[in-house]
Amino acid sequence: MSLMKDAGLKISIDSMGSIFGTWSGSSGDRIDGRPVATGSHIDAVPRAGAYDGTLGVLGGIEAIRSLKESGFKPLKPLQVIMFTSEEPTRFGLSCISSRAMAGALDAQSLARLKDVNGTTFVEAAHGAGYALDFEDEKSIIASARQHAFSAFVELHIEQGPELEADRIDIGAVTAIAAPSALQVRFSGSGGHAGALLMKYRNDASLAASELAIELEKAVLSTQSHDTVGTVGKWIIEPNAINSVPREAYLEIDIRDIDKARRDYVLDRIRNATETIAHKRKLQYTFEVLNTDPPAQADKAIVEAIQEGAKRFGLSSKSMVSRAYHDSLFMAQLTRMGMIFIPCEGGKSHRPDEFASSDDIANGIKVLAYTMAKLAGGESHQHSEL
Ligand code: GLV
Ligand code: MN
Ligand code: MN
Repeated sequence: MSLMKDAGLKISIDSMGSIFGTWSGSSGDRIDGRPVATGSHIDAVPRAGAYDGTLGVLGGIEAIRSLKESGFKPLKPLQVIMFTSEEPTRFGLSCISSRAMAGALDAQSLARLKDVNGTTFVEAAHGAGYALDFEDEKSIIASARQHAFSAFVELHIEQGPELEADRIDIGAVTAIAAPSALQVRFSGSGGHAGALLMKYRNDASLAASELAIELEKAVLSTQSHDTVGTVGKWIIEPNAINSVPREAYLEIDIRDIDKARRDYVLDRIRNATETIAHKRKLQYTFEVLNTDPPAQADKAIVEAIQEGAKRFGLSSKSMVSRAYHDSLFMAQLTRMGMIFIPCEGGKSHRPDEFASSDDIANGIKVLAYTMAKLAGGESHQHSEL
C-alpha cells in the first residue's frame, strides 16, 4: 500500500480484503467510466518463489506510475489490484476474491472454507482488520460483486519453459486452461504393522496409491499433452512407521485447455475412487471443490500486447496459460488479457523461481503500453515509456 501511495494512487480495500490502487488522471483530464485494471496476487504456495503473482502487483504499480510520469492523459481510470487468496494454500480454494468478484462464489461455499486451524474466511478477514463492516458471508459476497471494469490485463511469469527455450521476450496469452480440484478421503481400520496379517488389512494409503496411479493412466489416456493431473497433497493417519494407515486424504488437481477432456479424467477418478474403496473394503468421501471453465483472452488485447512488444523491439508469441490466475475469473467480468515473461528454466512454485530484471522491465513496458492503449487517452504511443 505504501508503494501504491508513493505512486500517487488512491487506495481502497474491498470486502474480500483485495487492495485497489487507482489513478484517476491529473487535474484537467477528462476521465470517465470504468477503470482499465491490472494486478495479481502476493500470497504464495508452500516453498514458493518470489515472483509468482508479486510481479503482477509491483509491475502494475510501476506501469501506472511510469504512465503518470510520462505525461500520459488517460480517458479512463487506471487501477492496480492486489487480489486476496489467489493460491489455495490457506483455504483450499483458488482465486477466492476474483471468484467472488465474478459472481462465481456463493455465500454458502465461502462459509464452508476453513484453514487448517478451523478458522473461516470471515474470521480471518476480521482478524486481519478488514471486512469489519460485514458480518457474514452473504454481505461480503454481495459487496464483492459491485466492481466493474472496462478491461483487465495481468502481468505474470510464464511458470513454464517455452519462452526461455524459444528465446522469446513476451508471451501474449490467448486462453487459460480449465482447472479443477478434488478432495478424496479413504478411511479404514488401521492396526499394528507387525501383528496384523496382510489378509486382515484395509490399508487407506494403498488405496490412495492405486488412485494416484489411476490418475496418471487416465491423464495419459487422453494422448494430449494439454491434459495434466497431480496428487499434490497426501496426508496419512496416523503417519507412524509401525501402524497400518487408517486414513488417507488426497487433494487432486486436474487441468486441460479442453473442458470436456478435463471432465472425462475427473469422471474416471470419481469411478476409480468408488471401485478401489469397494475392493479394499474402505469408506470414502469424494468432493469436487471446483470445476472451472477455461477463459479466452480478448483478441484486441492480445493484439495490443503484441503491438506493444514490437514497439519496444521485443519478440513475442501467443500462447496458452496452463496455470490459473485471477484473470480466469476477471474474464467473466470484462475483456481480459495476460502478458507472460520468461522465468529461468520454467521453474515456478519452487524457491529457486527467478525472472531477470531485464525481462521484468520488458513485461512492465508492454503492460504500460497495453493499459495506455485500452485507456484510450492521448499520447498512448509514447516511445519513451
Ligand atoms: C496457480 O498458482 C496455479 O496453481 O495455477
Ligand atoms: Mn501460483
Ligand atoms: Mn500466480
